[in-house]
Amino acid sequence: MTTVLHGPQLGRLLGRWQGGRSIPDYLALAGTVRGLLADGRLALGVRLPAERELAQALGISRTTVSAAYRTLRESGHLTSRRGAGSWTTIPGGARVGSTGLWTPESAPDLLDLGTAALPAPEQLVTAAAEALADLPRYLSGAGYHPTGLIELRAAVAELYAVRGVPTSPDQIMITSGVQHALDLALRLLVPAGQTVLVESPTYPNALAAVVGRRGRVLTHGLPETGWDAELLLATLRQNRPRLAYLVPEFQNPTGHLMDTRLRERLPAVAHTAGTDLVVDETFVDLSLDEPSMPAPMAAYDRHARVLSVGGMSKPFWGGLRIGWIRAAAPVVQRLAAVRVGMDMAGPVLGQLVAARLLRYAGEVVPARRELLRDRRAALVGALAKELPEWRFRMPSGGMTLWVELDAPVSGALARAAESYGVRLAPGPRFGVDGTTMERFLRLPYTLPPDELVEAVSRIAAARRDLERPARRTWEAPALGTRWPSTESWSTHRRRPTR
Ligand SMILES: Cc1ncc(COP(=O)(O)O)c(C=O)c1O
Repeated sequence: MTTVLHGPQLGRLLGRWQGGRSIPDYLALAGTVRGLLADGRLALGVRLPAERELAQALGISRTTVSAAYRTLRESGHLTSRRGAGSWTTIPGGARVGSTGLWTPESAPDLLDLGTAALPAPEQLVTAAAEALADLPRYLSGAGYHPTGLIELRAAVAELYAVRGVPTSPDQIMITSGVQHALDLALRLLVPAGQTVLVESPTYPNALAAVVGRRGRVLTHGLPETGWDAELLLATLRQNRPRLAYLVPEFQNPTGHLMDTRLRERLPAVAHTAGTDLVVDETFVDLSLDEPSMPAPMAAYDRHARVLSVGGMSKPFWGGLRIGWIRAAAPVVQRLAAVRVGMDMAGPVLGQLVAARLLRYAGEVVPARRELLRDRRAALVGALAKELPEWRFRMPSGGMTLWVELDAPVSGALARAAESYGVRLAPGPRFGVDGTTMERFLRLPYTLPPDELVEAVSRIAAARRDLERPARRTWEAPALGTRWPSTESWSTHRRRPTR
């Protein structure tokens, strides 16, 4: 299915795109379309309006639109076929999600604040060696374990028991990361066209999974103080969504932690509404200041409505691709049946590595927290110095600050920051309609302190550039591709990047 964008819709997305005196309109238009593609607000494979229609919607000449489309075709951002129209593409093989949210490969010279993740802990190498020594135990079997290796399932069940929810290994299914867990849950529980409630802002790839499964999205806006309990419960009662996707621990991107009172009430209300709750516990281990954590939502689940999803990506390493689902044992069996139709089972060796690495949790996780505390302090200090007008609530855990900017310029700032060698995740990526979060920026504190300080100073320079129209840059966003020199210019000198 191709999404068709009409003239006024693209017009709204483009916002104030005009080139001004030094930049011809067609190049400014092409540059803005590329920028929208870069920050994920314009999806890939979307059919753009016909030239005449867009010209009419923007109140400009058709020649200008023709020239802009030609420029985009030349740079690989548009493909046209006579009779079929023109649709968005990305040159150079960037990886693309179903809604056009893409994760570019990280470039060595870029300070990447687009991703919130840490490098692997040193214990991983030891765990991998131990796993390899252990592998022969498994080699005489067929190697297919759709619900996961029993020893890893037992280790994960134990993690829940420690958090106060007795859990048997039958209730655990190992997945290829939390993203896979979420997709499996959606496949099992949400027929196409049914409603899924998500927080707004929310984790963009979760949204991509919901849209990919053709779920109808219903949102619960998170005000500055976190979930509005009465509103959330009323939304469930009134709309009776098939599923609700919630991130109660250090929500991505806002960092909010859901209180016990709401956790207690949600499963019962969800049950009455006929809603299953997918509770994403990705950040649960990364409390930085909380003296004690609230019990998991599953602790209050009397009707098998809660599917908890979690994993090792944030406390350990994303490259492990180890996640899990905790659910009622019969649900786990049904999930395994769905999984067999997708990828059969996860790799045995990777699961053995994960099981061994979990034994080092007592060393790894406290060290991660310490590291994140230091990095959070570095980021907060740098912001106070360089961008004191930006506001944020200090999160008590997780990996990100959700920053309110001094103006609704998040997308433009992300594009400007690219020319300073900083990749940002602008607010609209986390918004559901792609237009409402322009005043916000998610800043992870996962890079080393000196790199965070340097990144903030470059972001501050990029922010100042936005205030100087004459010095405005229209440098093409860094999509890991070549740009025609005629349309790539910058009035400031590009600073050296690391
Ligand atoms: C809330 C949330 N859920 C899921 C994921 C994806 O986790 P994984 O790498 O285990 O698939 C992330 C990654 O950032 C996340 O922030």
